[in-house]
Amino acid sequence: MKLFRYIRGAGSFKRYYRLLNDLYRSVYGRELMLHFPFYMQEKESFIQRQYNLLDHCLQNLGDLSDQVLLEVGCGNGANCKYISTLNDSVNIIGIDLNEENLEIANASMGSPRTTFIHDDAQKLDHIEDSSIDVLICIESALHYPDKFAFFKQVKRVLKPGGSFLVADILRRKEDRGRSLWWWKRTMLLHHTNELDYQGYAVKNKLNYLSIQDITPEIIKGYEGHRSWIPKENRSWSSFVLLSFTLAILVRLYLKELRLHKKYIVFSGVHA
Ligand SMILES: C[S@@+](CC[C@H](N)C(=O)[O-])C[C@H]1O[C@@H](n2cnc3c(N)ncnc32)[C@H](O)[C@@H]1O
Repeated sequence: MKLFRYIRGAGSFKRYYRLLNDLYRSVYGRELMLHFPFYMQEKESFIQRQYNLLDHCLQNLGDLSDQVLLEVGCGNGANCKYISTLNDSVNIIGIDLNEENLEIANASMGSPRTTFIHDDAQKLDHIEDSSIDVLICIESALHYPDKFAFFKQVKRVLKPGGSFLVADILRRKEDRGRSLWWWKRTMLLHHTNELDYQGYAVKNKLNYLSIQDITPEIIKGYEGHRSWIPKENRSWSSFVLLSFTLAILVRLYLKELRLHKKYIVFSGVHA
């Protein structure tokens, strides 16, 4: 039963991504990016707001022509696909731990210049030293128990002068990490704070060029979410089920972002 599957989806890291991919396929007929929406103007669609977030991140990285770009935690590959449509000479590698996401990436998000690989962000076993011009990691680092190991890999795989961008959800100063503990445990969430992020960079001789707090744009990104599920061509029960699932997820995300977390984009260079 779909309702049962959706409820179980909230109970594990793997099933959560299956639920999101399922949800997007049911509503939009295809898989979408797996990150939060970023508000730019009124009445944008959810899909547009997901593009907005990636566009906002890419603005920090300059021209990607002839560059080798690595996306760490690429999910179902939708970001890599979008980037490959923006620039026809960028070479892209996407790595992820979740095999189901990688199956979708290989089946629907490929391009002649894109490769998807199963790898762990904290090891990057398949990526050679000093081989990457640009590294991005969007809403994935929150799952890594050892973010210092990840930053060590960022330093190792980037070419000297290469750029990196990490978009992550951080704990606010006052957050004691007690909210939604059951969700964090089952979803393998390892939120950290800005001070820790300063340490990851300093100790690995990486320099941040900018640190942006985009929490307001992300919170506003959910504006109008009640109209995101079109009613046409859908049975009443499926409409109710999808709307209910979306409402629960949005409530959960917004509560965390308003009270306990902040959404930060770090961009920098290999010193
Ligand atoms: C919220 S999704 C974001 C996907 C994509 N970056 C996007 O913006 O749509 C987080 C992804 O990080 C992946 N992930 C979690 N831990 C990982 C790790 N240790 N190494 C590589 N990928 C990981 C998950 O499997 C998931 O696909």
